[in-house]
Amino acid sequence: MKSDIPAPGIVWAALPLPTLLIDGDNRISHANPAAETFLNTSAKALRGVSAFDRLAIDAPLEEAFARVRANQSALFVNDVDVGGGDRAPVQCTIQIAPLNDVPDVLLLLISPRDIADRLGRSKTMHSAAKSAIGMAEMLAHEIKNPLAGISGAAQLLSMGLSAEDRELTDLIVEETRRIVKLLEQVEQFGNLRPPERRAVNIHDVLDRSRKSALVGFAARMQIIEDYDPSLPPALADGDQLLQVFLNLLKNAAEAAGPKGGTIRLHTFYDQSLRLRRKDGARAPLPLQIEIIDDGPGLPPEIAADIFEPFVSGRENGTGLGLALVSKIITDHDGWIAVDSVPGRTVFRVSLPVIPKSMESE
Ligand SMILES: Nc1ncnc2c1ncn2[C@@H]1O[C@H](COP(=O)(O)OP(=O)(O)OP(=O)(O)O)[C@@H](O)[C@H]1O
Ligand SMILES: [Mg+2]
Repeated sequence: MKSDIPAPGIVWAALPLPTLLIDGDNRISHANPAAETFLNTSAKALRGVSAFDRLAIDAPLEEAFARVRANQSALFVNDVDVGGGDRAPVQCTIQIAPLNDVPDVLLLLISPRDIADRLGRSKTMHSAAKSAIGMAEMLAHEIKNPLAGISGAAQLLSMGLSAEDRELTDLIVEETRRIVKLLEQVEQFGNLRPPERRAVNIHDVLDRSRKSALVGFAARMQIIEDYDPSLPPALADGDQLLQVFLNLLKNAAEAAGPKGGTIRLHTFYDQSLRLRRKDGARAPLPLQIEIIDDGPGLPPEIAADIFEPFVSGRENGTGLGLALVSKIITDHDGWIAVDSVPGRTVFRVSLPVIPKSMESE
């Protein structure tokens, strides 16, 4: 099986992760500079070599390759040892992705463990979603620089143009700006640090998000506070919780549309919700925060997937807001649920309280 494999471009050379192109016969056709360093060999020497010979991967690679080719969707394999040449194997995460335009050719990305950890993987996200985020985060960084060049060039061009032609350069600038914004959101997602958890007054955080929403995206909304004042502090990262509430408020405001609507912030205590943790223990999540709006409700066709990245029901939505919310809440050992009918959408966040030992803080 032979396919013409185009030489990878400039992004390829700049990619910080060891990356290989694998041809239809499972041979290495290209290796980027990071891969040369990682495998301690030149790209020339790697060319034509069977991927299975060169990478001592303790995972069924052949099957993984076949699956990616069959499904035409990326696969993420965690915690594999990748050896190269005479170097000892290193724990890695590998990603195998199809190249849309070149049948049977695969992109193989190797993330040595320290880099993989940085990508902020979440146990609850599906692997396809995880690989979408991981790959996108790496590319986001590399794509932003050339975009700045494109936008700058369009702005220079526009100076000598007629008003009619300037519409086109304005379009380039505007669309470039949109891509940069999307890339920044992807990067923000990848840069998320583990939460620094301490005793947090939920109502303080809600107040901060309410005020900031009302002077910005929720200016046309009415936000009602319905708090249980006896609510004990949460064990949480206040800044990350602020991001959560702002994202939920923003979605409610955007769903309401230009005529506005009402959002109720409801807090209460409910002992009955328990979450089974990794160690099997059942941890109580008694702090309940509900963000309730009277908008049109979730679009039914995406309702089941709204917490997945890149799922959006809005024209200009990137679909990362709720994925970020879900990741933050999961990192807090909390729970998020949604209940939506037209006229009433409830996002409920459930969080643990601070342990007795921290109560004096
Ligand atoms: N309160 C709500 N009422 C109605 N639909 C909602 C509500 N919250 C979320 N949605 C739907 O869920 C989709 C996904 O939301 P999410 O915040 O993940 O992405 P987004 O708002 O489209 O884009 P981003 O937040 O990245 O700018 C939204 O596009 C919208 O269709
Ligand atoms: Mg959103």
